[in-house]
Amino acid sequence: MIRVVQGDITELDVDAVVNAANPSLMGGGGVDGAIHRAGGSAILAECMEIRRTMYPGGLPLGEAVATTGGALRARHVIHTVGPIWRGGGSSEAETLGRAYRSCMRLAAGMDLRSVAFPCISTGAYGYPVKEASRVAIHAIREFIGETGWHGEVLLVAFTALDHLALTAALEDAL
Ligand code: APR
Repeated sequence: MIRVVQGDITELDVDAVVNAANPSLMGGGGVDGAIHRAGGSAILAECMEIRRTMYPGGLPLGEAVATTGGALRARHVIHTVGPIWRGGGSSEAETLGRAYRSCMRLAAGMDLRSVAFPCISTGAYGYPVKEASRVAIHAIREFIGETGWHGEVLLVAFTALDHLALTAALEDAL
């Protein structure tokens, strides 16, 4: 089931929170910075190990990897990289949908039952939040429809504007 909530994703008691990372996995600003700050060095240590063993060139756009949640209430962090918005003509929607599906596939593979997503790519990466919300909900609903996964997905809005966009997109989809 999919729910829209407003707040700070680092405070949620869920099996996994999703991080809108960059390919380096070495942290950044926005939700990436918040998750690393609140989760602590254990998350970064596992990100460095993932870079060393699995992705020496960086995490490709649309892929997802999991680490410990560290000091977060969430047990795990699923790191993914969304597209940078370049106007809509560079397969941004396809890449964003792939990022959401990769996170869902990883969560299902880890037998997780609750996953919280931020609005991936809608901050520093500039993706218009209304369109990104539609892509996110379509990708998640498609994954659930194809696999029968029956956990809980929380779409976390940090701002009231994002909450409006996510709520409207979810209502349109139902
Ligand atoms: N909880 C929930 N959502 C948050 C939080 C938080 N604590 N902090 C920020 N957000 C929201 C933003 O308001 C935005 O809606 O997360 C969404 C994604 O914004 P960014 O964090 O800027 O991520 P993104 O647009 O995907 O850009 C990723 O920014 O931080 C760097 O390392 C990151 O290079 C990468 C890029």
